[in-house]
Amino acid sequence: MKYAITDDFINRLRAESDIIGLISEYVPLKKKGKNFWGCCPFHHEKTPSFSVAPEKGFFYCFGCQSGGNVFNFLMKIENIGFMDAVKALATKMNIPLPEVEKSAQELAKEKQLNDLFKVNDMAQEFYHSCLTKTSYGKSAREYLASRGISLPVIEKFNIGFAPPHWDKLSQAFMERGIDSQLLVNAGLAIERSNSNGVYDRFRSRVMFPITNARGKVIGFGGRVLDDTQPKYLNSPETPVFNKRHVLYGFEHAFKHIRDSGKAVVVEGYLDVISAHTAGINNAVASLGTAFTTDQAKQILRLSEEIIFAYDSDAAGQNATVRALSIVQELGAKVKILSIPDDKDPDEYIRKHGAAAFTDLLANADGLIDYQIKKAFKEIDYSGLEGKVAVVSKIVPVLAASNNAVEVNSHIAQISQTLAIDESAIRSELRKFIVQIKKDKTVNGGKTINKISLIKKPSVAVEQAEKSIIRLLYDNVELIPTVQALLSVDDFQDENRQEIIKFIFDAYNVEKKCLASAWYTDLSEAANVELSQIMLTEIPTDDTAKLVNDYMRMIRLTNLKLLYEEHRLRADELERMGDSRFLQELAESQRIKDEIKKTHNS
Ligand code: UTP
Ligand code: MN
Repeated sequence: MKYAITDDFINRLRAESDIIGLISEYVPLKKKGKNFWGCCPFHHEKTPSFSVAPEKGFFYCFGCQSGGNVFNFLMKIENIGFMDAVKALATKMNIPLPEVEKSAQELAKEKQLNDLFKVNDMAQEFYHSCLTKTSYGKSAREYLASRGISLPVIEKFNIGFAPPHWDKLSQAFMERGIDSQLLVNAGLAIERSNSNGVYDRFRSRVMFPITNARGKVIGFGGRVLDDTQPKYLNSPETPVFNKRHVLYGFEHAFKHIRDSGKAVVVEGYLDVISAHTAGINNAVASLGTAFTTDQAKQILRLSEEIIFAYDSDAAGQNATVRALSIVQELGAKVKILSIPDDKDPDEYIRKHGAAAFTDLLANADGLIDYQIKKAFKEIDYSGLEGKVAVVSKIVPVLAASNNAVEVNSHIAQISQTLAIDESAIRSELRKFIVQIKKDKTVNGGKTINKISLIKKPSVAVEQAEKSIIRLLYDNVELIPTVQALLSVDDFQDENRQEIIKFIFDAYNVEKKCLASAWYTDLSEAANVELSQIMLTEIPTDDTAKLVNDYMRMIRLTNLKLLYEEHRLRADELERMGDSRFLQELAESQRIKDEIKKTHNS
């Protein structure tokens, strides 16, 4: 069925839905003041830090920082997409979805996908029976046993065996009325080059069905029983199988990822299977290909932390470095597990046991530690040149951190190991930060907020930014005043930048700020931030003055940082004998005057 789900329909659902009733189906809630409280369903806790504000229609957990509206709640708890959440809510509320006739083309597309799911499902059963019930499955049963894979595990992952014949599956399926073209489209068979007819793609291989998050079979990986190459043969890309999207084991892992707040990402099929068998149920594999943004996003919808446990060989380590740059951009909390003695997680678990692997997980390095260790390992730092090389490798890593305390302790540690002065590292760091700020200003005209190392963003500024957003929600008439004095870039936090930009834009277009649109147009992270902001209590009188005070504080803080930056650059240029330092000095003087003016305003 196809539905015409409009903004109006979504707004109606949200307005008429009972967020307390809905969430109570999953979590017992108690009323306290205006809001309701309960134990968060998204992380383990004993004292309630999960709150729901029925008037505004938001929930927020002060423990794990998840939040949003009814739709976000359903998306998160059921692990479904936005449209599915809309449908689920409409169904719960007994509101029929507005239907639209499907075109012939859409019907054909739907049939194509259903046929692919169906034939993949049949193939899974076929391979599974071959493994467990036939005589030619014997060698594969022995192989799996030799790798420590027991019958219950074979059942859980629906492992199978592709018979050692050219067209057993193709023949059997065509006899059952399956068109050979469908077998080819599903990647199960290959067209013969000489004449007509098809033959099986997978032969004499242990078969690992690959499922999507809903548990539907979308493809296969087949492993040889010996040393033949290629070791694994995978299904080709099909309309249901997208390698950049798939995470092996996700179907079994997603609830555990959500509950534990962490995902363990490994390389291979057997790593996932061994991890799950050892009780590490939040493991998924990126399957040999490079870890993609798409895969990262699926995980980050459920948890903030990703632990990479790739093979310890060079290929695995290179893959780790690539994966890190992807998840860093998405703001994930990353850890990296290094497996001792050149092993992969599967071998390590089977040799040392589940507890030893759980220990490794608990002690996984944070991003900075990992990169520092890596630099120390790769570079000979006994001489001056080596020390310089280590510092220049580590500086960008430190600059990317927002945690000043952490950075300071790393600087101390590096200075000790390299036997150089802390101030030398700090000066390199400062140079680097000033440089990227300059580059960014030149490139996009957008000033970035990596000022945390020169000065830590204060809690007061954070509060001020949040309060402004909160106050604007109730006092739309104040938006133009704020817009006149603050720009989006004046906000320090990316999410709050997104929110304030949204508020400004909405006001510019409609002279109002439709709260109901917030949840569809904002990114997930901004939505969470917004929910938290909506659940904070704020004073209600003299809001105009409050907003003014907050704005002044933000402006002053930013101006002071800008001043410091220009001063630093002036110093730097002067030291290098570059006469442009005069311009920098002039600019810093101008900023100083502005600070004075702002103070007196
Ligand atoms: P590995 O070579 O590390 O294999 O490749 P593995 O998972 O440890 O397998 P075993 O333990 O030797 O049986 C990691 C992943 O890369 C993909 C597979 O998804 C594999 O699980 N791969 C590897 C392929 O797709 N094709 C190959 O030929 C090899
Ligand atoms: Mn392995």
